[in-house]
Amino acid sequence: MEIEVLDNYKKLSLKAATMVSSQITSNPNSVLGLATGETPLGMYEELISMYEDDLVDFGDIITFNLDEYLDLDPHHEQSYHYYMYNNFFNQVNIKEKNIHIPQGKKENCKKICSKYDKEISRAGGIDLQILGIGTNGHIGFNEPDHKLHVDTHVVELAEDTIEANSRFFSSKDEVPRQAISMGMSSIMKANKILLLASGEKKAEAIKKSINGEITTRHPASLLQLHTNVTILADQAAAKFIR
Ligand code: F6R
Repeated sequence: MEIEVLDNYKKLSLKAATMVSSQITSNPNSVLGLATGETPLGMYEELISMYEDDLVDFGDIITFNLDEYLDLDPHHEQSYHYYMYNNFFNQVNIKEKNIHIPQGKKENCKKICSKYDKEISRAGGIDLQILGIGTNGHIGFNEPDHKLHVDTHVVELAEDTIEANSRFFSSKDEVPRQAISMGMSSIMKANKILLLASGEKKAEAIKKSINGEITTRHPASLLQLHTNVTILADQAAAKFIR
């Protein structure tokens, strides 16, 4: 695991965007695993300005998003579909056919999940996976538990995640209780993983991911078993790293 501590969120976002654009320059057909949430917003902004300056071309990349709420209309402003199109896809030259975001309802979720895994395999797996981290150590929506799922699956969101994500909804009651998430296998099979963490509220989770025991009770700790992980943390998130 490589850990790089950046002075602030702006520098972290620029560094993350530079790593993504290098990946695309070295392989224009790269398969990227993408995350939503507050943390990667700055990275998407930087990638958009690199695209506007002709420094990167998204024309041949393929993307797979980590997760999406179950039973939430893709047009809902808090859906991850809306987030991705609004904050990134609509502003760059990615092809619609190359975008994958899980989307399902209770009735069809099993089919959707297995189709998603097949699509990832058919694309040749993920070259570079971007991750954020929950305060409870979740990656994607793989929540702390006594066991973790291998494949894409439906997950009951943990109480801390519902609490944390309620900041995006008008009330906590509106936060969906279930989501579809990529499993640990697609994440761990990615050639490279780039985890971004910003702010003091992530400091404990980052400490446990790096120095703590490897446990399903802190899913990000499993990344210690991967051979090509870079963590970019700002000063606040790296507070407990010695
Ligand atoms: C989002 C995702 C989540 C977030 C995590 C941190 O696609 O997979 O694991 O990365 O909840 O979210 P923020 O960045 O909002 O703190």
